[in-house]
Amino acid sequence: MNDFSRLQQDLVRFRDERDWKQFHTLKNLIVSLNLEAAEVLELIQWKSDAEMEALQGDPAFRARLEDECADVLLYLLQVCEAGGIDLLPAARAKMAKNALRYPVERAWGSAAKAEDAPREDGREHDAGRAMATAAVTLSTPRLLLRDFVPGDLPAYRALQDDPAFRRLYGEDEVGGERSAQLLRMFMDQAAERPRTRYQFAVTMAGSGELIGSCGVRMEGGGQASFGIELGVPWQGRGLATEAARAVIGFGFRTLGAHRIHAETLSENAAAIALCRRLGMRVEGEFRDHRFFGGRWWNTTIIALLSSEWQ
Ligand SMILES: CC(C)(COP(=O)(O)OP(=O)(O)OC[C@H]1O[C@@H](n2cnc3c(N)ncnc32)[C@H](O)[C@@H]1OP(=O)(O)O)[C@@H](O)C(=O)NCCC(=O)NCCS
Repeated sequence: MNDFSRLQQDLVRFRDERDWKQFHTLKNLIVSLNLEAAEVLELIQWKSDAEMEALQGDPAFRARLEDECADVLLYLLQVCEAGGIDLLPAARAKMAKNALRYPVERAWGSAAKAEDAPREDGREHDAGRAMATAAVTLSTPRLLLRDFVPGDLPAYRALQDDPAFRRLYGEDEVGGERSAQLLRMFMDQAAERPRTRYQFAVTMAGSGELIGSCGVRMEGGGQASFGIELGVPWQGRGLATEAARAVIGFGFRTLGAHRIHAETLSENAAAIALCRRLGMRVEGEFRDHRFFGGRWWNTTIIALLSSEWQ
């Protein structure tokens, strides 16, 4: 539970102690939120720039601004409670969408809205708009899965550079420069139209910390492939299962996959256990299918049909 959820609980208690639930409909709360926001505006009504500058050092003004801001937040939390919105993950998801809509290289120092921002390639607005509408986020109790943004690179590289993480990967498969290439590839896939490949950044819902990635890729003919990776500190806590469930559900329900499969080293017991936990069945094994670290490795194919997914 985060601080917002705790505040929400206190607000519900405060409301119920006074039998105010009857008045706190979603409509009334939205009206109240806007009235409170107008009270913030009222503080500066008719003030000149010079008066505003003087007010910023005035403790009495600051105290009034603090009260009005608090009222706005408290009504916003009540709107979210009534509307069934989990505010922190929703805000994180919106920030991720904004980062895609306003990439630093296009938005730096510009107050233009995304639709108005000039594009160097002359393709004016369509790409920006399409990107914003195609950004997908998935929410689970503990996680928020969103598209990758360039700022994810240091955290993504750090988790892949961990020797314990790299144990079952070939030398140049993950980490170092390869992390940057992978991240660029995930962002390119997110910009493809129609979009068929989704490699989500897996982040903690409360803190926004990047803990891994999880993806599903449509391969034509109703077939899709699935993959997941979590940094070592976040393994063994059921987080991979939580992320995988959301992504596989998205693959079947939203992308319309008929069969989703994963391929993993046969010695990757954690990956196979995870897939089995999701109801996937081993369909076969390729002998000596991969070569790295001076030896051959078998790989296992494990899959699930949409009719088996619940
Ligand atoms: C594959 C990988 C994602 C699996 O992750 P994981 O941490 O084993 O999976 P989960 O997060 O679901 O954790 C499951 C474990 O947490 C335990 N657990 C703890 N709390 C839990 C909870 N609330 N819910 C479910 N399981 C929980 C489970 O009992 C299980 O432990 P067990 O295997 O000893 O029974 C992970 O090993 C990884 O990222 N490896 C490196 C990348 C990789 O190999 N990817 C696959 C390439 S194909």
